[in-house]
Amino acid sequence: MPLHEAVSGSEWWRSGVIYQVYPRSFADSNADGMGDLVGITSKLEHLDDLGVDAIWLSPFYPSPQKDAGYDVSNYMDVDPVFGSLADFDRMLEKAHELGLRVMIDLVPNHTSDQHPWFQEALSSEPESAERSFYHFRDGRGETGEIPPNNWLSLFGGPAWTRAEDGQWFLHLFDSSQPDLNWENRLVREAFEDILRFWLDRGVDGFRVDQPHAMGKQAGLPDHPYVETAGAGFIEGEPDPPMWFQDSVHEIFRSWRKILESYAGECAMCGEAYVLPLTKMAKWVRPDEFHQTFNFRFLDSPWEKDSLVDAINESFRAFDEVRAPSTWVLNNHDTIRHVSRFGGNYGRATASDGIGPNNPQPDNKLGLAKAKAATLFMLGLPGAAYLYQGEELGLPEHTTIEPKHRQDPTFFRTNGVRVGRDGARVPLPWVKGGSTNGFTEAQDAWLPQPNSYAGLSRDQQQHDLSTLAMYTQALKIRSELRLGEGSFDWISNTDLLTYQNGSTLVIHNFGTSSVELPAGEVLLSSAPLKGAKLPANASCWISI
Ligand code: GLC
Repeated sequence: MPLHEAVSGSEWWRSGVIYQVYPRSFADSNADGMGDLVGITSKLEHLDDLGVDAIWLSPFYPSPQKDAGYDVSNYMDVDPVFGSLADFDRMLEKAHELGLRVMIDLVPNHTSDQHPWFQEALSSEPESAERSFYHFRDGRGETGEIPPNNWLSLFGGPAWTRAEDGQWFLHLFDSSQPDLNWENRLVREAFEDILRFWLDRGVDGFRVDQPHAMGKQAGLPDHPYVETAGAGFIEGEPDPPMWFQDSVHEIFRSWRKILESYAGECAMCGEAYVLPLTKMAKWVRPDEFHQTFNFRFLDSPWEKDSLVDAINESFRAFDEVRAPSTWVLNNHDTIRHVSRFGGNYGRATASDGIGPNNPQPDNKLGLAKAKAATLFMLGLPGAAYLYQGEELGLPEHTTIEPKHRQDPTFFRTNGVRVGRDGARVPLPWVKGGSTNGFTEAQDAWLPQPNSYAGLSRDQQQHDLSTLAMYTQALKIRSELRLGEGSFDWISNTDLLTYQNGSTLVIHNFGTSSVELPAGEVLLSSAPLKGAKLPANASCWISI
């Protein structure tokens, strides 16, 4: 019996390829230097040509943009910088005409401090109904000058900020992102309305931001090992009081019911950073999330043993609850895989970015490995996520000047952690000018590195480009239904090989070219040398 058996003919989200659009950096239609919905609509054909099944849009809601829109001040509208609700409807319509599904980002753990709920909470009394939308507490110490507990913000510094009247409010992220109190029934009802608002407009589902943070242990006790884990957790240690609380499952069940009351296989994917995967499996039980991001896979360095473990653990854990595994190598929070694999950047630094003072990646080697990693990933059964720009082989921008930086991580750590801006740089469409066709403005909201000119989409309209490899891979994946296929390891030597149906997927982890097994080569990430696969390359073979 293979490690994973084929699940054919089932719901789209079990095998689909979902492309993350980061609206600020996709395409600008109104020459203000910031991407927008009309820009996205104008380029959707390119995503259809690429061959993805769905897109997921990062937040485009009204927001002070302190955390690039993950600080929402109104969940039921569009920020004027991105357009209007009418622009959203038009975008959705066009996507559906092209056969692309659209998932949108739901940010339930926290709002912006400019959200009316928080503004009302601030102007209300301690212990009031308005304050109970959030986590307000008195401080410790004689005058309440010490925060209520020892929790830290993921973006650096304490997780508590003091309001004018002396009470403290909790924020696991920036101080402009106060955490909602999910024990409050009114918060739950408000979000059910938000889900329905967008489902009524026709969206196909949600990517849910930080769902593992939503529940807080009653009494908000200290983080027991904050010295070693900081704001996070350590696998194998007991769960800290702000992560993976069991109270959240009831919420996901209620959301799943809402999604299922709409036609069209609506789906939700949790950005659940829950490890080990045996624990994550609880999050994708049949009445909870349809899928979660596979951070175990994303976090793995491009090394054979680690990769094999990540894949084995994924199939074992997710098959147990009959959920699809997802596969992902990039997103807007992580160093782009070209640069990540072109240096020694493990998970610890992934969201800290690479700055001018860090060792610089070898992007040539990184691109070879990244293309090979993508090919290896896209042969796997399950759902796969791509992040805009990876189909062009874009590297991380590692030399952004401090004056351009936007990520709150940079400011909260005084630049010690440069943050995620390097992965969020606007896309190059047509070579030339200061932004390679991203905007007609002189400057984009973040500058591109020089290397983006030659990587522009118009420069990649030939068979040997990274774009051509992605396009071919998605075409073959769809024709052979690899997403619905089976999985078994064939060899665990330097030539790491698995089989999906009648396709062999091979990566050469060795240092020299290796003879390939017999069969028809369908696609390779680098030109073959005769019948040999070069080091750091992958290929697909039909047997
Ligand atoms: C998620 C988002 C990230 C954001 C954070 C807080 O991890 O992907 O960009 O900063 O949540 O909302």
